[in-house]
Amino acid sequence: MNQEVTRIVVLTGAGISAESGLATFRGDDGLWEGHRVEDVATPEAFARDPGLVHQFYNARRAKLEEVKPNAAHLALARLDAEWPGELLVVTQNVDDLHERAGSKRLIHMHGENKKAWCLRCDERFAWTGAMGLDAECRACGTAGGLRPDIVWFGEMPYEMERIEDALRECDLFASIGTSGAVYPAAGFVQTARYCGAMTVEMNLEPSQGSIFFDEVRIGPASDVVPTWVEELLQSAQSS
Ligand code: APR
Repeated sequence: MNQEVTRIVVLTGAGISAESGLATFRGDDGLWEGHRVEDVATPEAFARDPGLVHQFYNARRAKLEEVKPNAAHLALARLDAEWPGELLVVTQNVDDLHERAGSKRLIHMHGENKKAWCLRCDERFAWTGAMGLDAECRACGTAGGLRPDIVWFGEMPYEMERIEDALRECDLFASIGTSGAVYPAAGFVQTARYCGAMTVEMNLEPSQGSIFFDEVRIGPASDVVPTWVEELLQSAQSS
């Protein structure tokens, strides 16, 4: 490992939570009752059939109560606690496993399933349990205006300016458990690389963007991520 690494950006996707028991989007089990993700995760889908979209996210939200962070989430939390330089974890996941593992320097670029967003008053707030068509906003009290605080296809991911700045400035960019099928996250590796960062991919199989990475580590996240974190922390100690 290059000894001059101080600023690290880590991008995570559904693959990091797979071993916790959460289904990925594009794997064999990636369909939800016959729906393509794109058909239940768009503003148009919500306008057409909000009950179906609520059902999709309610089921995934309920599942979060049954699962816990795995060794890969815990390793990134260890990196957060022990890395002496700058670190930013950007997750595409809407689960809460990174924060439950202990990660602090974290951005949920696609939102969070345990938050609600009121379309009437624009407030966002924590939400557990099912969200129904007539659910009431805890801020303005209006019924029927809530949606999960999720960034759907065609919507703008959160905190892009902060993410782009971190990508341009980082020395090392790591991508974990993402298929590289969805932009803008799929393009982060190119920004980091063109700005001089080393790039490493950790995934069960080469992703669609594998050619952009200097190094590709194939294997389950619970194996490869703790090893990578250990190596990084060792290299920081010896530099
Ligand atoms: N360890 C590492 N990688 C894994 C594991 C594992 N145990 N299991 C699966 N993977 C890999 C798969 O091989 C796949 O390349 O994780 C990747 C998951 O890809 P997707 O299901 O496409 O998930 P993701 O890339 O996060 O999707 C991006 O698409 O549907 C939208 O908004 C949603 O944030 C999501 C975005």
